[in-house]
Amino acid sequence: MDQRPIGVFDSGLGGLTAARTLEALLPGENIIYFGDSRNAPYGTRTIPALRTLAAANAGFLRSFDCKAILVACGTVSSNAMEHLRKVYPEVPFFGVIDAACDAAAQCAGRGPVAVAATEATVRSGAFERALHDRRGDARVISKACQSLVALAEQGHFAPDDSLAKAAVEAEFAPLRDAQPEALLLACTHFPLFAPLIAACMGPETRLLSVGEETAKALAAWLGAQNALAQRAEGERRYFTSGDPAEFARLGAVFLGHPITAEQHINRESENL
Ligand code: DGL
Repeated sequence: MDQRPIGVFDSGLGGLTAARTLEALLPGENIIYFGDSRNAPYGTRTIPALRTLAAANAGFLRSFDCKAILVACGTVSSNAMEHLRKVYPEVPFFGVIDAACDAAAQCAGRGPVAVAATEATVRSGAFERALHDRRGDARVISKACQSLVALAEQGHFAPDDSLAKAAVEAEFAPLRDAQPEALLLACTHFPLFAPLIAACMGPETRLLSVGEETAKALAAWLGAQNALAQRAEGERRYFTSGDPAEFARLGAVFLGHPITAEQHINRESENL
């Protein structure tokens, strides 16, 4: 048994796609979430900047003595995991690549696997490498769909939102044309648009949320380590470096329950 909290961070709202699964699977866990909305988007940043931001976010979560940190950001998972592990060697970090690629490799049979991600994630080639490690013959098509991140942060992700609809069609039509068997939503913001993306891709393509797959893997790992918390209902705290009222409003829409958010700004990222 381990009563310490689980930490989760992202550049903003996207990591809630992982937190929501953690909350559903492990209702007794305390969860500390940090969304660095003030510094979003991460996907257009350089590797040195991503390292600084990631280490600052992890340092903040570490101040709560987290038993594990879920790096609910494809961009950081692709570009700064080694750095995080070097800075905080004692923290078990879960990036969003491995569990998601395990799931995708299993359904990579007939058609290709598509990877939709941020610019920095696509540039890194990290998901392609992980997929090829699992299946040497996998056909992988990657595409940056960066415009969706800003839209999500501005609250344009509802299925009837005209800006969201147009952006999903523009970003995902080239991937639909490749008729993939599985589509890895390798940026954690993208599942906010899941109904629109599913409608655009059609029923033959299986959508995989990297945050969700990683939350499942983390839950299994905590169980195997005998490190689950023993309590009926855990406490959740949501921090944002942006506007807490706005974060709480949009977060509640996605999570399906009201939340309150607190503000936290990392000093290290102030001048980036
Ligand atoms: N949600 C993050 C990711 O998974 C970051 C998106 C961004 O800020 O560009 O890549």
